[in-house]
Amino acid sequence: MPAVVLIGAQWGDEGKGKATDLLGERVQWVVRYQGGNNAGHTVVLPDGKKFALHLIPSGILTPGVTSVIGNGVVVDPGVLLEELDGLERQGVDTSGLLVSADAHLIMPYHVAIDKVTERYLGKAKIGTTGRGIGPCYQDKIARVGVRAQDLLDEKILRQKVEAALDFKNQVLVKVYNRKALDPDQVVDTVLEHGAKFASRIADTRLLLNQALERGETVLLEGSQGTLLDVDHGTYPFVTSSNPTSGGASAGSGIGPTRITTVIGILKAYTTRVGSGPFPTELHDDMGEHLRKTGGEFGVTTGRSRRTGWFDAVIARYAARVNGITDYFLTKLDVLSGLEKVPVCVGYEIDGTRVDDMPMTQTDVHHAVPVYEELPGWFEDISECRTFEELPANAQAYVRHLEEISGARMSAIGVGPGRDQTIVRHDMLG
Ligand code: IMP
Repeated sequence: MPAVVLIGAQWGDEGKGKATDLLGERVQWVVRYQGGNNAGHTVVLPDGKKFALHLIPSGILTPGVTSVIGNGVVVDPGVLLEELDGLERQGVDTSGLLVSADAHLIMPYHVAIDKVTERYLGKAKIGTTGRGIGPCYQDKIARVGVRAQDLLDEKILRQKVEAALDFKNQVLVKVYNRKALDPDQVVDTVLEHGAKFASRIADTRLLLNQALERGETVLLEGSQGTLLDVDHGTYPFVTSSNPTSGGASAGSGIGPTRITTVIGILKAYTTRVGSGPFPTELHDDMGEHLRKTGGEFGVTTGRSRRTGWFDAVIARYAARVNGITDYFLTKLDVLSGLEKVPVCVGYEIDGTRVDDMPMTQTDVHHAVPVYEELPGWFEDISECRTFEELPANAQAYVRHLEEISGARMSAIGVGPGRDQTIVRHDMLG
């Protein structure tokens, strides 16, 4: 049986939590492979119970599923405990959650540096979530990071934190004029948190590969989205990891030949949080309408999301760099009630028409969308459960997107609930 990857095809916030939750009943393992608590998934269960998850895989809400925080994830120990606590208070059994021994830990100095760096950048800021994600990945790549397994060896942990703070305190104090952090205090807090989840630290790459060998299905859940990928996104306005499907292998220890399906989550329009280019962005009432109707406010930071029309250049690009086999089109219901629905089919850059993602960031910044207008629909589609029940114009919208986006539209979201989904093709079949 396969490993299945689920990724965001745009700039994140496409509704991946809902998709994972939907598939969760048919898989035995759900794994997060990159990012940290910069993510935010909202899941609404059929009984109306709503959960906002940041770090823990959405699989935690499905009984019997083992949830894994993979080696590619960066974990803030305090946040992990808070999230576990919150879930347990809502009656969720969290006993199945495992944390890779190789996952890097977000330390208090990462959060401090993230915040001061953004302030220092001023207008050129990335608009990070301020959770310490970038600085933690910097330490990982610089080979001075602290990993979950270091919680099991106090001596090593102390050595690492002292060495890190030797340097970082200089930066905090001398460059940014902030207070130095006390290494003993940092270690004591991290150890106190660590003691509460030490039993969850595991060799998850071994367990996942053994599970695949037993014939179990593993769902690898990406956070953020394709255009926030540090290699394939709108650099430098990206996150510091690889949300694209290639990252799933590195961030979990599952070999690429095991992955048979890549599901792209694609919103029926586009949103982005933070700075950076966004060709189809709307700055008018229509942008406000999409934001309000779609509830486009961040789960993690509460920030308003920037909104715009669907962009097929992005979808084709996502299909290509991720090897998408199926699309899950979300939030189609948000477009109900519009006379016409514009869809961006290409860009015009300095007078030249292009159909593919430009090679340079300069061109991405200069891209002017070329739109086709499709007829809208006025019916409430939130109760539709088959494709045929959708109004003819909504069907035509989906079919058109399918033709220009590079993969079949196998599922369609018509509301936030787990059951508000139209399945056209079995994505795990
Ligand atoms: P960081 O991941 O906090 O370093 O932020 C880098 C960029 O990624 C910023 O533009 C954030 O707004 C964006 N970002 C990070 N996580 C998410 C997410 O889950 N959804 C949407 N944007 C995100």
